[in-house]
Amino acid sequence: MASVPCVICYLALLIACLGICWQVHGGGITHQHVTIRSLLPSDACSSYKDGDGVNHNETSLTVLDRHGPCSPFDLHHQLSHKQILDHDQSRVDSLHGRVSTAPKQDQQLDALAASSIPAHSGISLGTGNYVVIVGFGTPKRDQTVIFDTGSDVTWIQCQPCVVTCYQQQDPIFDPSHSSTYLNISCSSAYCTDLGASGCSSSTCVYGVQYGDNSYTVGFYAEDTLWLTPYDVIPNFRFGCGERNDGLFGKAAGLIGLGRDKPSFVSQTYQRYGGVFTYCLPPTSSSTGYLRFGGGYPSSDLRFTPMLSGASSPTFYYLTLTAISVGGQQLLVPPTVFSVAGTIIDSGTVITRLPPTAYSALRSAFRQEMTTYKSAPALSILDTCYDLSGLDKVTVPEVALHLGGGATIHLDITRILYIASLSQACLAFAANRADTDLGIIGNVQQRGLDVVYDVSKHVIGFGPGGC
Ligand SMILES: *[C@@H]1O[C@H](CO)[C@@H](O)[C@H](O)[C@H]1NC(C)=O
Ligand SMILES: *[C@@H]1O[C@H](CO)[C@@H](O)[C@H](O)[C@H]1NC(C)=O
Repeated sequence: MASVPCVICYLALLIACLGICWQVHGGGITHQHVTIRSLLPSDACSSYKDGDGVNHNETSLTVLDRHGPCSPFDLHHQLSHKQILDHDQSRVDSLHGRVSTAPKQDQQLDALAASSIPAHSGISLGTGNYVVIVGFGTPKRDQTVIFDTGSDVTWIQCQPCVVTCYQQQDPIFDPSHSSTYLNISCSSAYCTDLGASGCSSSTCVYGVQYGDNSYTVGFYAEDTLWLTPYDVIPNFRFGCGERNDGLFGKAAGLIGLGRDKPSFVSQTYQRYGGVFTYCLPPTSSSTGYLRFGGGYPSSDLRFTPMLSGASSPTFYYLTLTAISVGGQQLLVPPTVFSVAGTIIDSGTVITRLPPTAYSALRSAFRQEMTTYKSAPALSILDTCYDLSGLDKVTVPEVALHLGGGATIHLDITRILYIASLSQACLAFAANRADTDLGIIGNVQQRGLDVVYDVSKHVIGFGPGGC
């Protein structure tokens, strides 16, 4: 009985995957055989087409990779893989710093009001973030913004750029040309919710300094936010940044999808019920989606409890309980994972594990890969292979086992970071100590439907999202 759907599913997989097939053992997938050709991203962007499951309670935006052929930005200053991974480590360092020292009460409010840079303990943005296009103001002005589950305050660069604005692709938003723009007053509770705020002629001033010394400072404001021409949020609160500098690429700003009060998710809770889903592009030459509200995607979802971390109200915590390689569960005591806990993050590229778990993963993976020529390490990635000249590669499946019985099965595109065919690296890295926060990064999430449901306190994972 059970084997019939399994055979059908196996055939469907074979047909669907074009060049990718799986080795099935004892009911589970243990290894994946892939043609090398299928691993290479194309030079052209092929965009994801949303299915016809139109649900009027939900809104879908196209997710674009800042680095590939689908990037909305002109790519004169394309970062190298090493630079991307080095920046990823500064994001992780700042995430760790944020958790170990609770955000300080801002001591520089006076300095802020006096228009110098505030010191709000923000995180480093890194370079692994994805962008979406939304509209601000009346009439609507399109702005390409990073979306980030690791921060709360939404902001865009605004005219007049008093001291400095960095270069962005879209024209910089001018609030004086928007009939719906309003400043938020210092006495508003929304101003207090910011954590770091100041006051300038009774107008609320916000400031976020990210861990890599990127910063944005300006007026805290509200205006109409257009997700689509039909889905419009009046009086959305965001920072109108008149002094901004840092590693934002050419993006106009950021949309904060964290859990704390100022975030998009909290502000639109009535409207979308605290539910959003994304599918990050499976390759740099494809696109994904970011959806708010609505039903869950139709794919086969596995749910794990969404937990809260006392030290950071922004982050989405979950429980990682074990890891399997090639169908074999690694012998890592579950307490190794529970010491510091684990978050899921849209903006961290590479999954970070406790060193004890990472070394077990690495040795199991290396044992399965002994037939391949090794290649030099790449930044934080220490297990790399030279696949050039080969037609096919076989990798063991890696699975992440989560609390509540959910498992994320990773295929080769979520196991290897392929800088080039001569340098394909295991896309996991160790934290400095088992006491550092674990992070599920975005390489491991690509192509999956990832559902965040703040009202039901669950995070769901489904295959085949985009
Ligand atoms: C939209 O949401 C409402 C209430 O949450 C529900 O009753 C309705 O069926 C939903 N509509 C669609 C098209 O899903
Ligand atoms: C917002 O406040 C700033 C500073 O007080 C002021 O220059 C600007 O004109 C205000 N904008 C509106 C629409 O009130």
